Amino acid sequence: MFQKLERIVPRARFALFLRKSNKLENKIWFMAQEDFRIYAKYYDQIYSHMKNYEKEAKIVENTIRKFESEKSKTLLDVGCGTGEHLKYLSLNFKCTGIDINRNMIKIARDKVPNARFNVASMIDFKLGERFDVITCLFSAIGHVQTFDNLVRTISNFYGHSAEKGLVIVEPWIFKKDFIKGHIGLNIHEDENIKLARMSTSKMTESKRIIYMHYLVGEKGEVKHFTEIHEMLASDCKDYVEAFKSAGFTKVEYLTDDLWDGSRGLFIAKK
Ligand SMILES: C[S@@+](CC[C@H](N)C(=O)[O-])C[C@H]1O[C@@H](n2cnc3c(N)ncnc32)[C@H](O)[C@@H]1O
Repeated sequence: MFQKLERIVPRARFALFLRKSNKLENKIWFMAQEDFRIYAKYYDQIYSHMKNYEKEAKIVENTIRKFESEKSKTLLDVGCGTGEHLKYLSLNFKCTGIDINRNMIKIARDKVPNARFNVASMIDFKLGERFDVITCLFSAIGHVQTFDNLVRTISNFYGHSAEKGLVIVEPWIFKKDFIKGHIGLNIHEDENIKLARMSTSKMTESKRIIYMHYLVGEKGEVKHFTEIHEMLASDCKDYVEAFKSAGFTKVEYLTDDLWDGSRGLFIAKK
């Protein structure tokens, strides 16, 4: 009897510990979802001032036409956000968009009814089809956080690329270009809302951690929200290594004739 109890008590303690840690994990997950709900909600207001998506999509399309072997018809935009690039790319390609944030996808679906969308992570999505072109723009790839995940992501792009397909990736800010102590500021104002987003960052050896603060004034109230984005710390050579190890035969990094604020474009061919 006593021996039996001795076996049961540690198991019960372990079960209790698991229950508590699951609860904590769920809470953290929920908080992260809430934070990224804010990211999606104000995304277009923040970036509409600094980005010209129509111009960017045109440059992406011209780049595709320059590098493609045959006329590309299907396009997958990974980390598509609110679908701003797809709004224009879907005029000339049969488009699919994926993003990890379901709130982003909801906005994109309403905005681009002629494209298909899925909530999925770029690291391990499985769509069961191949695309003539895969794009991953405005540094969405930086969210994979580690070099190992970068390799997994690019290999996944390889698996979803058609024969002679193209992959176009706008990287996250390279390690060498990161400005220590930089404070970012974006402002938006219209008749319904006054919005300011300020950001600062911390560099660790393996990551860039971005702290975003939102001040949102709407419906007679001012609210403060925070968000933490943990991003990849890597340089050009790391991306080239990831493309090569995934099996891509040709990789180029373009910086000329792109848009203001562009972080360059990797063009990889299967
Ligand atoms: C800076 S936004 C870029 C969005 C869009 N490409 C654009 O140009 O506006 C980064 C996007 O990557 C998405 N993202 C982050 N991690 C992801 C992942 N693991 N898989 C897919 N999307 C992800 C975010 O939800 C966000 O929509």
